[in-house]
Amino acid sequence: MHILVTGGAGYIGSICVEQLLDAGHTVTVFDNLTEGHRAAIDPRAELIVGDLQKDGEIVCAMKSAQPDAVMHFAANALVGESMENPSKYFRNNVTGGIHLLDAMVACGVKRFVFSSTCATFGPPERVPIDETLPQRPINPYGESKFIFEKILRWYDEIHGLKFVALRYFNAAGASGRYGEDHRIETHLIPNVLKVALGQRDNVQIFGTDYETPDGTCIRDYIHILDLAAAHMLALGAEASAFYNLGTGGGTSVREIIATCEKVTGKKITVVEKPRRPGDPARLIAASEKIHRELGWTPQFQSIEKIIASAWAWHVANPGGYGD
Ligand code: UFG
Repeated sequence: MHILVTGGAGYIGSICVEQLLDAGHTVTVFDNLTEGHRAAIDPRAELIVGDLQKDGEIVCAMKSAQPDAVMHFAANALVGESMENPSKYFRNNVTGGIHLLDAMVACGVKRFVFSSTCATFGPPERVPIDETLPQRPINPYGESKFIFEKILRWYDEIHGLKFVALRYFNAAGASGRYGEDHRIETHLIPNVLKVALGQRDNVQIFGTDYETPDGTCIRDYIHILDLAAAHMLALGAEASAFYNLGTGGGTSVREIIATCEKVTGKKITVVEKPRRPGDPARLIAASEKIHRELGWTPQFQSIEKIIASAWAWHVANPGGYGD
């Protein structure tokens, strides 16, 4: 298939592009390169530099690429920033997304895979979180993704646009060639690894008084290659659907730091800080639905292996993509 990938220069997008190409697909990347990196785009893919905010640019790209399907990663994804600048999140994640869907409708492209998030649920009533739990986002980032999920239902009903929305839990790790390099790094694992690399003095632990066994937040870390595999399966899905995507395992902040020390052989200095606003204590995915319906099973169940792959990439690319 020929896939148009928005956000193909970003962390998750770039690795999905690589995996699509390895599987024999043709890929056109559409990216404005504000968050992503040119060097993260597999040279086998074609790049169209463009902005989803400008609907003419995505219509042009769609017309020239004539893809069989679209994978949509281009979005802003920082919870904290969304609490300060909601407009940015609604403009980029909702308005930009509508421009993309309209371009698909105009060009007769009917297959769509969407990067959604567990942040659409807000603090869950129970874990693991399955698809039947109510979605009550508590920040504009989660809300913007939830709004777009609802828009997708209507484009399916009215325009016959078939979609799969994958609600990621915490993406982590790297492929051999591509990895995680955010211009502003807020995520736990890369921040800990920067300490091991000597690029930061310490890592802060946001909150040590949660109702968890060691007092720190628990997350479900999913390897980026397992996430990419789910996208590949989503391309072949027969019906529109929403799927939660995680391993079903939970790892605390302290456990992540201890595992990073083990993997890197370096002592990680920690500084305990108050809770970060908007962080639920425990987020763990129930992924039985995607296992049942699309046959997805995560290959990386061990947090040590996930962190080892991230560490290998950071050691090989200490300056990230260098831009
Ligand atoms: N944390 C620290 N120190 C840090 C960074 C993070 O203690 O330097 C903690 C956070 O407070 C949280 C955990 O580590 O408890 C994981 O934090 P991340 O920032 O790595 O990931 P989040 O769980 O906050 O975010 C992820 C995705 C978001 C998504 C969110 C849903 O990155 O896109 O899950 O809650 F919205």
